[in-house]
Amino acid sequence: MKRIASCVYKLIALSTITASCSKSTVSNPPGGGGGISFSCTGISPKFGADVQPIFNTVCSISNTCHGAGSMNLGGPFTNYSQIFAKTANIRAAILSGIMPQSGSVTQAQINNLICWIDSGAPNN
Ligand code: HEM
Repeated sequence: MKRIASCVYKLIALSTITASCSKSTVSNPPGGGGGISFSCTGISPKFGADVQPIFNTVCSISNTCHGAGSMNLGGPFTNYSQIFAKTANIRAAILSGIMPQSGSVTQAQINNLICWIDSGAPNN
């Protein structure tokens, strides 16, 4: 199962790179490939108000996850520049379902994360 999720992860990472090249911003690809879908209809998520709280409460909960001092493949996600540097991996990890490794994200949180990334991940 983990091998399938990581194959899906690699496929989405590739599609994320090609999607960012094509500057498409909404629901691209629909259904995300890992069976996880998202929609940007009617929302324009902001980093401070909508995205950072997700990292603080779901992802960066300890240093074995993405808190300060995290040494895993994702690393720490405690500020804008750390998160910005990994947006393609974050998009693929969410849409393939491999992350979060514990806990869960709601559909609204998925939409906010992916649509913020697809809008260029501004520091707003
Ligand atoms: C929505 C919240 C989260 C996001 C966006 C996220 C994102 C990521 C990303 C992008 C990677 C790198 C994947 C790669 O490049 O192959 C990763 C790896 C990892 N994450 Fe998360 N993560 C989240 C939550 C968590 C939580 C809650 C934990 C701990 C329970 C966790 C533990 C890990 C570990 C251990 C790795 C390394 C996995 C490996 O070595 O294969 N993550 N995460």
